[in-house]
Amino acid sequence: MKKKLRLGMVGGGQGAFIGAVHRLSARMDDKYEFLAGCLSSTPEKAELSAKELGLDLTRSYPDYKTMAEQESQRDDGVEVVSIVTPNHMHAGPAIEFLNKGIHVICDKPMTATMDDANELMRAIKSSKAHFFLTHNYSGYPVIREMRSLVKNGELGNLRIVKGAYLQGWLGSKEEDSGSNKQAEWRTDPKRSGAAGAVGDIGSHTMHLLEFVTGLKCKSVAADLTTFVEGRKLDDDASIMIRMTENVKGNLSISQIATGQENNFTISIYGEKGALHWAQENPNYARFSRVGKADQIITRGGAIQNENSYAPIRIPPGHPEGYLEGFAQIYSDAADIILNHKNKNELLELLPGGDSGMQIMKFINASVKSSNNNSIWTDLSSI
Ligand SMILES: NC(=O)c1ccc[n+]([C@@H]2O[C@H](COP(=O)([O-])OP(=O)(O)OC[C@H]3O[C@@H](n4cnc5c(N)ncnc54)[C@H](O)[C@@H]3O)[C@@H](O)[C@H]2O)c1
Repeated sequence: MKKKLRLGMVGGGQGAFIGAVHRLSARMDDKYEFLAGCLSSTPEKAELSAKELGLDLTRSYPDYKTMAEQESQRDDGVEVVSIVTPNHMHAGPAIEFLNKGIHVICDKPMTATMDDANELMRAIKSSKAHFFLTHNYSGYPVIREMRSLVKNGELGNLRIVKGAYLQGWLGSKEEDSGSNKQAEWRTDPKRSGAAGAVGDIGSHTMHLLEFVTGLKCKSVAADLTTFVEGRKLDDDASIMIRMTENVKGNLSISQIATGQENNFTISIYGEKGALHWAQENPNYARFSRVGKADQIITRGGAIQNENSYAPIRIPPGHPEGYLEGFAQIYSDAADIILNHKNKNELLELLPGGDSGMQIMKFINASVKSSNNNSIWTDLSSI
């Protein structure tokens, strides 16, 4: 019988957002079995959440330390744990499970602070277990094909990159409504980290540009603004970036852009051509070449590079999206853990500690730059 990995979860209880997305995604390719959890910040709600999900209540834990301790002592204990708590609560559980040799799939950004990120990196390096970050957009087949096209030189030398992630859901002071806990912790520096919108969605934008181009952001000149009065963190940002190989670019990040839902777009421009992709229509990308008619890359249909590692679950034309992108990260993580023959190629694709650290430096360099009248700030100074 096919081996399923035994999965646990920290966070993702009643009323939480991303935990359910992780559980659905883990189930999609039948590579995991969800068996244990510490699902909420209070023991009572953790147990109620476990009941609702039909977990064996002897494997519902009041806190993550007890869970790590008890699960690691069982012969049938969890082999992988998903961490889907607010940012300040990533490092503690991740370190605890990694130290016990249990693989970790953690949501982004890696941590709330650089101190936590450094401590977590030490644990990642000394553990025999893997650490993966769900920068889920890198799981989209069309995005992986774009990465292959760039890698194969189809765009020639790259020149500029453009990224925008625009949302409108924080256009008023949602955090004071008393009913939006996602807004509440995201606007609290103690739980979110040094940045608001830049940490929450700027992190995805920077990661995806680096993923598709294979380049690294070296320096930023950032202008972060808090438009909503009384809010403690940025809700909008314009960021110029300098990348390796003299590539330049800019990012537009906002959570106060009224009318925008998840309008996340990237364009990569090289001397021979360009690629354009929009998250709200993620099964397609446009490939422009100098002097030629544009080509549409479709999920499945025109994916040509075998080594894109861009599996599709249903035929092209039937839309796939956010959940399948997430599921790809879970599926690839399982293949790595189970020593699949493509393990090394998959390891290159999946975001881990190094990507997490790089994005933490991007977030903190953006804040530092903005606090210094937007002067150019190297990520290496963080
Ligand atoms: N990749 C993505 O597209 C994406 C999207 C949304 C959120 N996220 C990330 O996922 C994480 C969670 O975000 P969310 O919107 O789901 O938050 P949320 O507030 O909806 O859920 C957080 C959950 O964590 C639980 N929790 C808090 N402290 C805990 C503790 N000590 N032990 C156990 N559980 C605890 C809460 O009770 C809640 O169930 C954040 O890091 C966020 O940045 C990523």
